[in-house]
Amino acid sequence: MEAMPAPWWQGCTIYQVYVRSFRDSDGDGYGDLPGIISRLDHLAWLGVDAVWLSPTMPSPDHDWGYDVSDYYSVHPELGTMEDLDRLISEAGARGIRVLLDLVPNHSSSEHAWFIDSRSSLSSAHRDWYVWADPKDGGAPNNWRDATGDPAWTLDPTTGQYYLHNFLESQPDLNWWNPAVHQEFQRIIKFWLDRGVAGFRIDVAHGLYKDAELRDDPPAQIGAANPHGLQVVYSKRRPETHAVYREWRRLVDAYQPERLLLGETWVLDPASMAGYYGQGDELHLALNFAFFFSDFDAGALRSIVERTVDELPAGACPVWAGSNHDESRFPTRWCARDERRIRLALTVLFTLPGTTVLYYGDELGLGDVEVPDQYQRDPMSWHGRAIRINRDQARTPMPWESSDGYGFTVAGVTPWLPFGDRNGLSVADQRDDPSSVLSLTRALIALKHSDISYRTMPAPAGVWMYGSGPLTVGANFTDTRQRVPMPGGSTLSSLTGVTTFSPAGERVIEPWEALVGRET
Ligand code: GLC
Ligand code: MG
Repeated sequence: MEAMPAPWWQGCTIYQVYVRSFRDSDGDGYGDLPGIISRLDHLAWLGVDAVWLSPTMPSPDHDWGYDVSDYYSVHPELGTMEDLDRLISEAGARGIRVLLDLVPNHSSSEHAWFIDSRSSLSSAHRDWYVWADPKDGGAPNNWRDATGDPAWTLDPTTGQYYLHNFLESQPDLNWWNPAVHQEFQRIIKFWLDRGVAGFRIDVAHGLYKDAELRDDPPAQIGAANPHGLQVVYSKRRPETHAVYREWRRLVDAYQPERLLLGETWVLDPASMAGYYGQGDELHLALNFAFFFSDFDAGALRSIVERTVDELPAGACPVWAGSNHDESRFPTRWCARDERRIRLALTVLFTLPGTTVLYYGDELGLGDVEVPDQYQRDPMSWHGRAIRINRDQARTPMPWESSDGYGFTVAGVTPWLPFGDRNGLSVADQRDDPSSVLSLTRALIALKHSDISYRTMPAPAGVWMYGSGPLTVGANFTDTRQRVPMPGGSTLSSLTGVTTFSPAGERVIEPWEALVGRET
């Protein structure tokens, strides 16, 4: 029997565009959709298969688009519906699919649904949000929002509290209400019918909340439980899986195939794997255990092994090292050491499965320190309780080393500072075969749809694995190492060159990776 061809997203490269920081076409200091269109040739040259656009829908921007006030339109500051249609068709002409960011856990408090909801106890949309009576004269329970403040706000009009897992201006939707399900099915169809290739689903582990609103139990403070509460009732509810089964059926009815990629913010591989269901929920789930791993051979290897063990048969893993919420990996993992950056990129692209690249990763860009007076993110500014100031990972893309870095018109102040990106731009790196950008491009070309992974024996501090047709030796030590490599072509993360060599022992320099491909 002939094997089914792998779906397009299995083993592909998805490029995350933080729209406001990619390219500003109209000189208002904010990146926009026409700006992305003008840079599609770069993305096609790089070889990416899809772009995921950070939120594009109208929003008062308390959380830069993650507070949606209209799910059926385009944010005027970013462009028009026609711009989005043109982006989809021009990207499509270059073989690139367009994914939107869908925010189903909460809306903006300025959404018409919430304005109606809060207007009276009996309003048509009252039950679209999570409302509760005061308890002992205070909040209904002990849940905390993303900033560490109580997750409940008292609304004087009706004397009840509403829930917000993020900002006060991001009321949580009530997924116990079937009307909310119906509305989101409509939203999904609306965009798929316009040619969108799928969605990155924001806070995919959220949606349902405990029906009894029980207190989250106390926990040790840590990445998974930043406010000393174990997040088991306020998010991560089992009922949420039914939503993805519902959406999967809907999405799988479309041709060509569409993709559901979840922001499954859970730190153990087993819960993450649960969002694939039995192959009937999300197609892909972001892997935060890997994202937050230490950058060391043993730690990464063990998370990858656990990931592939936990995934249901046939499920495709996802690897990413940066996003718009965290420190970029060249800073966080690599302390900006270019050898480590090259090694990290090599691992990200050679592991079997899909790679999500955050804009600028291909240049090896690290964080930009954003002084207090320039910070724009209310959720994390001025040291407000969230892991980092997120603005530092959201600064404009440097296209050229000139005034405005080719991001905006010369003389215009961008919405976030550029930082010092001299010598680091696309123009600086594009024609240099030894640049990080050239390495990234070569690595993207190695992507394949074979999802088999095998750990191979290696000296301490070296991680060797097989990934479909590839054999990778990654040296996470300060000393030279020797490993057996297959014959065929070999890509080195330090020199970026491809050589042909017979099978045999090869030297791996400190913080270098070798990738062998049998021919
Ligand atoms: C997700 C987004 C983040 C946003 C939050 C609330 O974690 O990635 O940027 O602030 O959800 O929507
Ligand atoms: Mg603009």
